[in-house]
Amino acid sequence: MSAAVTHSQPFARIQGTGSYLPDNVVTNADLQARGIDTNDEWIASRTGIRERRLALEGQTTGDLAYEASLRALEAAGIAAADLDLIVLGTTTPDIIFPSTACLLQHRLGANGCAAFDVNAACSGFIYALATANAMIRSGVAKTALVVGAETLSRIVDWNDRATCVLFGDGAGAVVLQADSEPGVIATHLHADGGYRELLHTEVGISSGFRDEPNHGMRVLMTGNEVFKVAVKTLDAVVEETLAASDLKKSDIDWLIPHQANLRIISATAKRLDMPMDRVVVTVDKHGNTSAASVPLALDEAVRSGRVQRGQLLLLEAFGGGFTWGSALIRY
Ligand code: ACO
Repeated sequence: MSAAVTHSQPFARIQGTGSYLPDNVVTNADLQARGIDTNDEWIASRTGIRERRLALEGQTTGDLAYEASLRALEAAGIAAADLDLIVLGTTTPDIIFPSTACLLQHRLGANGCAAFDVNAACSGFIYALATANAMIRSGVAKTALVVGAETLSRIVDWNDRATCVLFGDGAGAVVLQADSEPGVIATHLHADGGYRELLHTEVGISSGFRDEPNHGMRVLMTGNEVFKVAVKTLDAVVEETLAASDLKKSDIDWLIPHQANLRIISATAKRLDMPMDRVVVTVDKHGNTSAASVPLALDEAVRSGRVQRGQLLLLEAFGGGFTWGSALIRY
């Protein structure tokens, strides 16, 4: 699915960004000290991850989303009551329903606006952004809050060293508003459910749960296979994005990728001929926060002054489904 620019429609422009990480910093050495058969050298050399944040007991995806959203609204100078749309990407909602977007809407005091969750695993924020962009471009919405928020720590198997060391918790948000200037220039979304077995959970509401720890809920991943497909599909989606937008690799100021693995990020940067100092990297400090990773990285780059107004940003993500996608944005 693609959405590209035509000049009769309004653009969706980022008015503000925000993010939130739980206070609980857990280093690779902390995981080892907790009895996980791993070490800093293995994790850092294979993934680039040094530490991650884990939600405190009782702290939910919605709690993280709320803090990130407050910061994005403040940065945008927009009141929650002025929102007419909330789209929230998550794989780890607080409860099955109401959606985390609805819980967030009420907590923010944005009652009445449309609010819904999008589940596209690690691509959740890109999917949410593309959806909000399309609704703004078509005139259905004017001011949208787009959130990526996760507590993956609640569904990883803490006895599986091959997966539990990879993930972290957090939330990021942007406020999009209709504007005559770009804006989101183009989005590209893809999925291939044929890959479901490589990254998935075995249990759920309709499939049923098991009489096992965490009711049988755990992330299962064939990491090396996921790695290969991720590199290949991300290569393809960045090429597709550039071709559709008539832009050159050198036009991109910042690559803001999903933060799953530094080696995957470096491969995409190489494909774009981009030096790593034009790539926003947070995986070392955040781990893989799934749908939260791209907006967390974006907000960090904006608040540190690296991303400046007028620059061209390429956002991309890849995750369970498989799902993948990109967003090309004039910030
Ligand atoms: N500490 C120490 N050793 C470990 C650990 C660990 N935490 N985990 C696995 N190992 C061992 C394995 O047991 C194996 O040992 P063996 O050779 O004796 O059998 C060895 O390390 C190699 O294991 P691999 O799985 O082959 O390691 P690989 O080099 O592929 O790295 C990794 C694994 C980091 C998971 C990598 O494959 C990866 O990043 N994959 C992509 C993940 C990703 O992008 N996911 C998509 C988004 S996630 C989402 O959508 C929710």
